[in-house]
Amino acid sequence: MVSVRLENVTKVFGKTRAVDNVSFTVEDKEFFTLLGPSGCGKTTTLRIIAGLVEPDEGNVYYGDRLMNNVPPEKRNVTMVFQNFALFPHMTVYDNIAFGLRMRGWSKSDIDRRVREVAELLRIRGLENKYPHQLSGGQQQRVGLARALAPQPEIILFDEPLSNLDAILREQIRFELRDLVKRVGITSIYVTHDQAEALVVSDRMAIMRSGRIIQMGTPKEVYERPNSVFVAKFLGIATILEGRVEEKSDEGYRFTLAETGHTLRVAHSFVEPGGRGFVVIRPEYVTLLRKGEEPDENTLEGRVAKATFLGSTIDMNIRIDGIVLRTFVKATEMEIREGMEVRVRLSPEKLVVVPPED
Ligand SMILES: Nc1ncnc2c1ncn2[C@@H]1O[C@H](COP(=O)(O)OP(=O)(O)OP(=O)(O)O)[C@@H](O)[C@H]1O
Ligand SMILES: [Mg+2]
Repeated sequence: MVSVRLENVTKVFGKTRAVDNVSFTVEDKEFFTLLGPSGCGKTTTLRIIAGLVEPDEGNVYYGDRLMNNVPPEKRNVTMVFQNFALFPHMTVYDNIAFGLRMRGWSKSDIDRRVREVAELLRIRGLENKYPHQLSGGQQQRVGLARALAPQPEIILFDEPLSNLDAILREQIRFELRDLVKRVGITSIYVTHDQAEALVVSDRMAIMRSGRIIQMGTPKEVYERPNSVFVAKFLGIATILEGRVEEKSDEGYRFTLAETGHTLRVAHSFVEPGGRGFVVIRPEYVTLLRKGEEPDENTLEGRVAKATFLGSTIDMNIRIDGIVLRTFVKATEMEIREGMEVRVRLSPEKLVVVPPED
């Protein structure tokens, strides 16, 4: 097993900087995700790692080995595509054995290795079935078994779940992470689905127009986005303009442009005196109950819209000129549209990001 390092990697197609000065390190056995909208350069980055695309600039290392001049077939890496692309006319056994036969393994070595990976991925007994006879989850495991059979050091996933229906996709992503972690292999996973990225990743990089905008654990990036783009891309947020005032031990003060309210916020990517946007996720907004004392981060408003979602109520709360979005547990309190409410914004969770350039 091995780490993967990209150092200032750039790839230009005509006028498009598909990958623009990208650097990151994926640690040995880490599950690392590239997340970003369509066309941001995710697949190109994977193909550069696999050796299928030659970068114009920069270096790719597997561990300490510089890989730039190593052809793809000499790199001990495997790439998995949409739906794991099983061969429909081959049995499970033949699907798993395919890459080993291509590499000229002996029949007895192939037998042993197919049994080994089938055991690891808990698909023993399915060897004589065809892909259409398997459930979606079983197909995924066979696909993974096929990718792992030749004992790659690195596995690259390019949106492997994107063709599955929403329910199956949601079930399968938990299992995918577990399986990959059990095998213990360095994994780089590409997706444009933020929920999927949060579930599967040890760490993730958010890409936009060929560049990496932010990197971190799912929790770090979700809770402390460094830009409006990342805040919006990763989950729901109300994003309000304003100005960062002075800094103190407790963080910063931030004045909302629209209402003139001043809030305490713990984190800011903008220096005092600068303009920025405060990111307010729904779960950072709590309703005050009768008798609870307001503090400096308490605002008064009215429920503009309340939508019953089953377990929660999705609310828009109008406060002077602004609208905050929040969710409350449906069992927690009686909510009516038009009712007056007081909301508190958790200062320790609030973060100010710079204006978009
Ligand atoms: N072989 C190529 N020739 C010309 N342009 C290319 C080539 N491959 C990719 N591009 C361009 O480079 C940019 C990045 O493409 P890439 O396929 O890496 O994006 P992506 O993030 O994987 O997108 P998606 O989510 O749609 O798969 C796009 O603008 C694309 O049109
Ligand atoms: Mg792609």
